[in-house]
Amino acid sequence: MARPHDPLRGLELRTGYFADRASFLALADLLRDIFDIDIGLLDRFSGPDPTAMPFGWFDAAGRCVANFSAFSMPLVVDGQAVRAVGYQSGAVRPDYRAQGLYGDLMRRAFAWAEAEGFEAGLLLTDKPDLYRPHGFETVPQHLCRGPMPEPTGAVDARPLSLDDSADLALVTDVLEDRGEVSGRFSVRGQTRTFLLNACFDPDVQLSHLPALGAVIAWKREGRVLRLLDVVAKGMPTLAAIIGALGARDDAVEILFAPDRLGWDGREIAYQGSCDLMIRDPGRRAKPSRAFMLPPTMEF
Ligand SMILES: CC(C)(COP(=O)(O)OP(=O)(O)OC[C@H]1O[C@@H](n2cnc3c(N)ncnc32)[C@H](O)[C@@H]1OP(=O)(O)O)[C@@H](O)C(=O)NCCC(=O)NCCS
Repeated sequence: MARPHDPLRGLELRTGYFADRASFLALADLLRDIFDIDIGLLDRFSGPDPTAMPFGWFDAAGRCVANFSAFSMPLVVDGQAVRAVGYQSGAVRPDYRAQGLYGDLMRRAFAWAEAEGFEAGLLLTDKPDLYRPHGFETVPQHLCRGPMPEPTGAVDARPLSLDDSADLALVTDVLEDRGEVSGRFSVRGQTRTFLLNACFDPDVQLSHLPALGAVIAWKREGRVLRLLDVVAKGMPTLAAIIGALGARDDAVEILFAPDRLGWDGREIAYQGSCDLMIRDPGRRAKPSRAFMLPPTMEF
């Protein structure tokens, strides 16, 4: 852990500091105060991502006043593996803003990622202007909407609760062994990200479809079934998923590229609260056709 001092502000720079529990908890405080999210939940999911590389400024009392983190986020894009880095947890406490702290942390994180040899960088933001000067551009995302396919197979689904330790173990096992949800655009790994997102959004339903060896994340809005992710070693068809779930909605929306579902729908521009931005100097991280980052992989 590097700990150079910045005498100008009396702040201390800490990098790669997650092994230090007090520093991790100080970041959790920062993110709770700024975004009202609790990354302390990671304690239930075997702790923070070991690939994470946080960059933070800490005050004399040990408060994290500014942070920006990088982490390994391997992708599959148009069937090719891409070594990508994700950026997250970017925040500065209000009393420390407009002093260049965030710019400093961004430069450090981007330089680190370049030295590590990552091919592309991704982030989600409601402030895209912050990142354009650093080579990031907003990438459009599309969901896919269409009529329900004719279901196949018998109804065989069980709701899962991450508050139940056996269910959590089952979901974790299926996540650890998952195949790619799409050949066009998938994120590999990210078990913790999936579990955190499922906890953060109380509307997300998780179901185990044992005959298909799958755990699915879904929501219902009116009479529309929204499929957020399919976690399985081999992707089942949408018809089999609908059959196992016993769903009888009017329409289905797929919130990831549906190329492995044996089904196609109409592409609709996705309007999320954040832009997906990609820095892609080698032009390898943007798929050739419409795609979407599954909501379970938001970071
Ligand atoms: C956005 C935020 C991180 C900026 O932190 P900061 O320390 O005040 O930023 P800096 O002083 O280092 O400014 C860095 C650059 O970003 C620009 N900038 C700052 N806030 C900005 C904003 N909201 N939108 C666009 N650009 C912004 C600055 O003008 C500066 O540009 P320059 O390098 O050309 O001078 C901080 O306001 C914050 O924590 N906001 C709430 C949480 C948030 O939005 N986080 C980002 C999530 S993606």
